[in-house]
Amino acid sequence: MNENDSLQLSKILEENLGLSFEQDASKSDVIIINTCSVREKPEHKVFSEIGRFTKIKKNRKVIIGIIGCVAQEYGNSIFKRSDIVDFVAGTHNIDKIPDMILNLANGKKKISSTEFYDNIKSINIFTKPYDKAGVKAYVTIMQGCENFCSYCIVPYVRGREYSRKSSDILDEIKYLADKGVKEITLLGQNVNSYGKKSFREISFTELLERIIKIDKIDRIRFTTSHPKDFDKSLIDIIAENEKICNQIHLPVQSGSDKILKLMNRKYTKKDYLEKIYLLKRKIPNIAITTDIIVGFPYEDDNDFMETYNIVKEVGYVSSFSFKYTPRPFTKFSNIDNIPENVKNERLKTLQNLQKQITLQHNKSAIGKIFKVLIEGVSKKSDNELTGRTEDNRIVNFKGKKSLIGQFANVKIIESFQNSLKGKLIEKTL
Ligand code: 5AD
Ligand code: SF4
Repeated sequence: MNENDSLQLSKILEENLGLSFEQDASKSDVIIINTCSVREKPEHKVFSEIGRFTKIKKNRKVIIGIIGCVAQEYGNSIFKRSDIVDFVAGTHNIDKIPDMILNLANGKKKISSTEFYDNIKSINIFTKPYDKAGVKAYVTIMQGCENFCSYCIVPYVRGREYSRKSSDILDEIKYLADKGVKEITLLGQNVNSYGKKSFREISFTELLERIIKIDKIDRIRFTTSHPKDFDKSLIDIIAENEKICNQIHLPVQSGSDKILKLMNRKYTKKDYLEKIYLLKRKIPNIAITTDIIVGFPYEDDNDFMETYNIVKEVGYVSSFSFKYTPRPFTKFSNIDNIPENVKNERLKTLQNLQKQITLQHNKSAIGKIFKVLIEGVSKKSDNELTGRTEDNRIVNFKGKKSLIGQFANVKIIESFQNSLKGKLIEKTL
């Protein structure tokens, strides 16, 4: 979501102010830091990152802005912590940034805007592709969250659930398809609640049904799904439609019912596993990924073992696991009672298990043929191309650059922890 916010912002700065994107901060006239506050570590990083620009600011005129969730969380108190910052724009205020920059260039000092809106304007800024070949794009379908998991800051920094109008979403996808985009990833904190809080909007499953009909879009992904809302109709639509990728991110967070209850997740291990088994039965090659928190308050060795066992039982193709850190505003903001060394140990144990499962999963791909969307030249070798399978694995293989942006069948000949190596069989449509 943050990546997409940055893309949207660079697009409106191009269109409104004629600015162009510059990776090197030392050559930029405007430096913008987009931020995440979901865990403590990225939040701390923001302030050290700001410090990196002090020297540039001393030597010449440059406008420095902070946007995203940390901007939302701290508001104009960021100016006190760091006097080189010129503007702060919260999560609902991306559309205001061109005006803020103009005002600052005209002599205004320190501008901050962190209001929440019932109608988030910036959600309707059409995005641009995020890959070099220009064939993949994110499309925001909703923002905010009202689930209030007891550890999570998102409802406080992204605001209440807000679904974008389906006609606007479909217009954006058609526009992207005309520009050559073949794969879209629908974004939302909880895509399954799409339309639920909006008057006369369709459901997420109905939205997918309409997107499938858009001609030039070949692949559809979405993230994130909440296990409590992930229902049978969604499983059926993934199973029945080739365009919807056989991949699902379903954050479990913990395998222990005691911890799930404390987290306010509103499902039990049994509920979760029932959905997993239905998914696996209807879509045998489904690639399931997850998020996990270790060291949540009151998590004992047995609770952790339940998490360990659910990872083994589901056989996630990959997972993101994190040590719990308390976040402001949340129900557990003042509770953090698992020693750091225990958290570290649990994280290591879990990540080692995941590595083995992923490696095994990748090994089992050897000899199989996958349809790959080719995104560009491989990072490691100039004479190899790189792309992704339907289940989102990276495949590198030898091939002509003219294939970039197209689909091809590739046979896997070698497997690694984070990628596959293949041999080009044929170009496909
Ligand atoms: N501590 C650790 N991890 C967290 N996450 C969210 N809040 C916290 C927290 N306070 C993790 C969850 C979520 C992912 C985006 O970040 O696993 O799914
Ligand atoms: Fe945070 Fe829970 Fe909402 Fe996900 S569902 S964004 S973890 S509050």
